[in-house]
Amino acid sequence: MKFIVGNWKMNGTPDKKSAMIRALSETTTENIVILCLPFTLLGGDNKNVTIGAQDISEHENGAYTGDVSGQMISDMGAKYVIVGHSERRFYHHETNETVHAKAAAAIRHKLIPIICVGETLDEHKSNKTFDVVRKMLDVCLPESGEFIVAYEPRWAIGTGKTPTIDEVKKIHQMIYEYLNVHGHTTTPILYGGSVNKTNASDFANIPHVDGLLIGGASLESETFLPIIKSVN
Ligand code: PGA
Repeated sequence: MKFIVGNWKMNGTPDKKSAMIRALSETTTENIVILCLPFTLLGGDNKNVTIGAQDISEHENGAYTGDVSGQMISDMGAKYVIVGHSERRFYHHETNETVHAKAAAAIRHKLIPIICVGETLDEHKSNKTFDVVRKMLDVCLPESGEFIVAYEPRWAIGTGKTPTIDEVKKIHQMIYEYLNVHGHTTTPILYGGSVNKTNASDFANIPHVDGLLIGGASLESETFLPIIKSVN
């Protein structure tokens, strides 16, 4: 049993969502499938599909034009929320401190944050992956509550490039040990970055890979369902 998390980013329409919900509700799997949708698509009839958001405000309410609070996300029936995705860090300049505040806001509202960590290509090339990821964990993780960590090298997102199996194995081992030392013995760790139906089971079978975070390949049932079925 693994987590299979689809991240639709800024894609999708009500019709596309309905089609995906229908396809998912007709699919039997042991895996925990979560669909992280744009805010505008969170509500409505989600059948038995578990829904997540892609961002959350660190604030409770007030004069934060355009932001969406944990309460609002929870009111839409979502159970999970991605925080610290590298696109938020890059385009919206979110720092590790912001990510920590957002994870805490999620937990206050009984949402499970999926906390993303990962290095840039330059950091990867200069062998800084472990240091960067450790620093992100040091600052981003909440003090208490249930959460998920997703390792997503920024250079692997939407590029078709992926780290090797051995690289993923080593970094997941490090994250697993880090979480254990800090008392988070049951926290799932996901891999994300250019996952597709061909490589999904290879990544999912690596020790301490408890699931996958999937962007592009989660948008259509033709590419998403084979991933769900290939992983167990
Ligand atoms: P990708 O995106 O699967 O399209 O590389 C992953 C993500 O950004 O979560």
